[in-house]
Amino acid sequence: MTRICIFANRKGGCGKSTTAVNVAHGLVIRGHRVLLVDIDPQSHTTIGLGFKPGMVKSSLADVLLDRVPIGEVILASHIAGLSLLPASRELGGFELENTGREDSEIILAEHLNDQLVNYDFIIIDPPPTLGLLMISGLIAAREVYIPMPLHFLAMEGLAEMMQVIYKLNASYNPKLRMAGIIPTLYNKNTKLAKEIGKEITKTFGPDKLLPPIRTNITLAEAPAHGQTIFEYDEKSIGASDYAKLTQKIEIL
Ligand SMILES: Nc1ncnc2c1ncn2[C@@H]1O[C@H](COP(=O)(O)OP(=O)(O)O)[C@@H](O)[C@H]1O
Ligand SMILES: [Mg+2]
Repeated sequence: MTRICIFANRKGGCGKSTTAVNVAHGLVIRGHRVLLVDIDPQSHTTIGLGFKPGMVKSSLADVLLDRVPIGEVILASHIAGLSLLPASRELGGFELENTGREDSEIILAEHLNDQLVNYDFIIIDPPPTLGLLMISGLIAAREVYIPMPLHFLAMEGLAEMMQVIYKLNASYNPKLRMAGIIPTLYNKNTKLAKEIGKEITKTFGPDKLLPPIRTNITLAEAPAHGQTIFEYDEKSIGASDYAKLTQKIEIL
């Protein structure tokens, strides 16, 4: 059974794309076939894997608009075992033109269904806004992981995400579940992070608080070289944190 995971949060800059790329590579290292699906028009994941915008002939937008078959759009990345369904700016246009159109939310799920036999994991990297694209990702997925810094108002953001998941459980996607919260940009020495960690454990149970990803500059440097953390600096704190997180996700 292919596991379909999305790293979602209604905020930008909380480590969604960093987590999607590095967990995807982490799973490949552990022997899985992985498809990374970039549904953010900003294309950070696509670019971070070394694909310059000019290098991508067709993108997810062409799939959603039924212009190119999904099998022709998926690219082999430079990492054996890791495939990419690339994003492009055009996805923004798709969202604008199709918001409110009947059943536009399920187009992505339908296309990904055709690919299940080819992969052990499908990892979705959504944009930070709760529009058609993120909803499409949440409808296609089974497991939602929420990367978030344990900051002031973190619990409010979490409550909002839970509302969205419950709404989708009652409509398009009864199988969607919140699989875990990933503390990102983590500093274990701050009192606030400790308190919020405790609150998460109390509210959702200890199983839902996943291993944290500490703030580590190499994680910000790697995408500029078109590399994951496991290529860019295997011995870094970032690589060690993402390896731990990957192992945990693998057995969930
Ligand atoms: N643990 C971390 N330590 C240092 N920088 C990080 C870390 N996680 C993410 N970043 C950097 O923070 C910025 C936002 O992260 P990103 O993963 O793109 O967030 P999102 O996809 O949620 O918008 C990027 O520049 C990224 O390289
Ligand atoms: Mg992102």
